[in-house]
Amino acid sequence: MSRKYFIAGNWKMNKTPEEGKKLASEIASIVSKDASVDVVICPTFTALDRVSQAIEGSAVKLGAQNLYPKANGAYTGEISPEMLREVFAKFVILGHSERREYFGETDAFVNEKVKFSLENLINPILCIGETLEQREANETLEVVKTQLLGGLEGVEASQMGSVVVAYEPVWAIGTGKTATPEMAQEVHGSIRALLNEKYGSAVGEKVRILYGGSMKPANAEELLSQTDIDGGLIGGAALDSKSFCDLITAAKNAS
Ligand code: PGA
Repeated sequence: MSRKYFIAGNWKMNKTPEEGKKLASEIASIVSKDASVDVVICPTFTALDRVSQAIEGSAVKLGAQNLYPKANGAYTGEISPEMLREVFAKFVILGHSERREYFGETDAFVNEKVKFSLENLINPILCIGETLEQREANETLEVVKTQLLGGLEGVEASQMGSVVVAYEPVWAIGTGKTATPEMAQEVHGSIRALLNEKYGSAVGEKVRILYGGSMKPANAEELLSQTDIDGGLIGGAALDSKSFCDLITAAKNAS
């Protein structure tokens, strides 16, 4: 089963709108109309509009870092799918470990967002992953299973073509520590098996499963060559056009 590689930049709380526009323009001019790898950049809310304009006409797509699962109303500080759609955001990162840790997001809340984003035509990138403590206690596969099945509760097989999963071991995020390709593949393989079991292999084999956690040009090729690693969700290395585009090249080479 060949799955198209998917490279997504998670800018987190970095880049002002002007800085974001500059970075996005650099990426768009390098990627141009080459759609051999799916490339998505996810700036902060305030930079979305300018970044959207900067990538117009290129193959780079836009994603957001969060949304609220309501159409509109009295939810101070939140953003709806319609607002994202209007700036042409096609993807949204949901369940990132930083949101789980600092903002108390539970699997049930992440699940609400996943379902609402699908109903409202924004493709979710569902993030899951264990902490160092959980890995050391040998709980990795159990934690990942709970987060995956919790996040996808009530999501139909027919909707899975729009879902991307990102496995991000929390201990590897922003720390410079990467899971070895074998460690990552073990978890990706078990995620694939869970998807195949829940949705059937015709559906499960098509879902892209990204790795995230200190992915950079130096380790990307080895990670991306693993059977069930279909791309990356990249933080630090996505903040510089050269390293981000080198990651896109690594994905092309692995294709
Ligand atoms: P990192 O972040 O690449 O800086 O480790 C990845 C992420 O949190 O998505």
